[in-house]
Amino acid sequence: MTRPATQWRPLHPDIDPQTGAPAPGLADDPGFQSASKLLADGGLVAVPTETVYGLAADATNAEAVASIYQAKNRPSFNPLISHLPSLAAAELHGLFNEDALKLAKAFWPGPITLVVPKRPESSIADLTSAGLDTVAIRVPDAPLMRALAFATDKPLAAPSANRSGRVSPTTAAHVSEELADRIDMIVDMGACRVGVESSVILCVDGKPVTLLRPGGVSAEDLEAVLGRPLARAGTNDKTPSSPGMMTSHYAPSVPVRLNAETIEDGEALLAFGPTLPAHADRAVEIVNLSATGDSFEAAQKLFAALRALDRPDVRCIAVAPIGNEGLGEAINDRLKRAAA
Ligand code: TXA
Ligand code: MG
Repeated sequence: MTRPATQWRPLHPDIDPQTGAPAPGLADDPGFQSASKLLADGGLVAVPTETVYGLAADATNAEAVASIYQAKNRPSFNPLISHLPSLAAAELHGLFNEDALKLAKAFWPGPITLVVPKRPESSIADLTSAGLDTVAIRVPDAPLMRALAFATDKPLAAPSANRSGRVSPTTAAHVSEELADRIDMIVDMGACRVGVESSVILCVDGKPVTLLRPGGVSAEDLEAVLGRPLARAGTNDKTPSSPGMMTSHYAPSVPVRLNAETIEDGEALLAFGPTLPAHADRAVEIVNLSATGDSFEAAQKLFAALRALDRPDVRCIAVAPIGNEGLGEAINDRLKRAAA
């Protein structure tokens, strides 16, 4: 395998909106052909999605999936999301009940992942699903991930393309900083539109529909489609939890302090909304996630802001209070982990 990674910026990222098939301009691009071949041969390709950049490999090839964990330095085998080009392709691997179909039809392609029973005939490797009888499946609103899954005719396993424990990447430069010497190729399509990872929802008969991880679609929007409230992971003994939610994720190397009402000397301020905390003038640096208090704008900027404030001259990142409305729940979830 060629390492360090080559970088490719697609000029014509067009796909069929229904099937995810690459349009001729994409299919004929030598960059696309080499990305497809690398994946088919068990290689690792960083591929942008609307949420964050993913580190993709053939989900049916256990060796390729193991090399994802190796590249990320991920200590344990958490189950991975398999990315598919369409709902029709997804249904070959998972059993979608009525709730799962409702959510898939409303939000795919888009930033939700459905955890559903794995079909016995699915070719997704046991390592990808960590030996569970369920699979996490997503049809992203991301032309390259869909087109590569279509062209290789494989589900693509992809966690975020960062070293384990670090902040998720929302640009190709973030991926390159951490993984360029360990992977084969980076597909560069600029900054991600959503900026936080997908919402992960369990849809299994006999269990409540459960939000395992808040993410790119707000709980309000999910519940509006579902027609009833979601159960939350870990809120009582009966609700299942997501294996990957246990570990401390998303950590910058400087401490993070939440709900800061007052800024101390030497701190950087991660602000939100038009009103700054007291003594904001003491901050070494201020990044406002959204001056208007828009949670969607804030989600888009979150991980890049944490990276930008992770500097030797910053003693601590002080985070202003952020409400839970819209994508606020997902943002607060990630910040809590960063502060843990
Ligand atoms: O937006 C995203 O979801 C990004 C992009 C690249 O698609 N991917 C991502 O993957 O965030 P990862 O590996 O960081 O997160 C996958 C989450 C973990 O919390 C994991 O525990 C959960 O999905 N998960 C996967 N399979 C599961 C399963 N069978 N049951 C319960 N949780 C599962
Ligand atoms: Mg991750």
